[in-house]
Amino acid sequence: MPNKIKKLAVLTSGGDSPGMNAAIRSVVRTCAYHEIQCIGVYRGYEGLIEGDFKPMGARSVRGIINKGGTILKSARSKEFRTPEGRQKAYQNLVDHEVDGLVVIGGDGSFTGALIFNQEFGFPVMGIPGTIDNDIFGTSHTLGFDTALNTVVDAIDKIRDTASSHNRLFFIEVMGRDVGHIALNTGIAGGAEEILIPEEDLGLDRLVDSLNKSRKSGKTSSIVIVAEGDKIGKNIFELKEFVDENMEGYDVRVSVLGHMQRGGSPSCFDRVLASRMGVKAVETLLEGKTNYMVGLLANKMELTHLDKAIKGKTKINLELLRVSDIMST
Ligand code: F6P
Repeated sequence: MPNKIKKLAVLTSGGDSPGMNAAIRSVVRTCAYHEIQCIGVYRGYEGLIEGDFKPMGARSVRGIINKGGTILKSARSKEFRTPEGRQKAYQNLVDHEVDGLVVIGGDGSFTGALIFNQEFGFPVMGIPGTIDNDIFGTSHTLGFDTALNTVVDAIDKIRDTASSHNRLFFIEVMGRDVGHIALNTGIAGGAEEILIPEEDLGLDRLVDSLNKSRKSGKTSSIVIVAEGDKIGKNIFELKEFVDENMEGYDVRVSVLGHMQRGGSPSCFDRVLASRMGVKAVETLLEGKTNYMVGLLANKMELTHLDKAIKGKTKINLELLRVSDIMST
């Protein structure tokens, strides 16, 4: 492996996700394995601009593979969007003799990394970390699997009380622009209806579906709503709509919110993070730059950052059909 790189930096940026710590650990230990130095950057691009750096050795990442959040902390940096901010960040990396940067984050973080490379020719590599699973070039982003398990656990608990009181629950899950969390957890949690941003299913369909459920003998119902749903109504307006237009429903709303981003990463996310960290470091050591590592057909694959940012993940239509059939 040709190796001009002697020191790498790693940061976490944007919304945190379970598995980020496991990815940091993997990057740091892969550097140690290849006998190169590693620097952790605190608070994402903010810390890059302020020079908030800390050398990290193999032992410094002990006991974190099972921890949610990110020990390096995360931020959404406004200053990194300016040429002045990026210039400061570049100067800090030069001053610390860093030869490459691993960015663990989502598409906003990758956009920053790409611009940074275009301006300074600085080698960058992306690891997709977001619970939303909305990054092109990987079947799974870090944290998605854990978030699914967290949400399903919450749905199961809500179902207990929903069925005890014969209630209809609208449950809002995260997914600003995509319905991956909603669709998967809706099926796994046995939801009667799933509303996602990719498909405008319309209010009529919701009404039909609830009526159908009731006729078939169901006494309680769960509707999963992705926060970015296209139906045009937020979850509280949906409750209002049912209260005003459908008789005999006792409706409750539950917004799961940021608890979906926390918690100990699942086995799947820990293994994925470990694989991605190794691939990211070794790809930089091969002299490549501007790629994101991803999981495709259970293999580690590279996607150009530009493609990862611009490409759209597609909702699995088969899952939509399965959910329809399951709610019969
Ligand atoms: O990007 C992941 C995500 O969880 C979105 O689904 C959600 O809209 C957003 O983060 C909320 O992030 P924050 O509260 O950090 O702005």
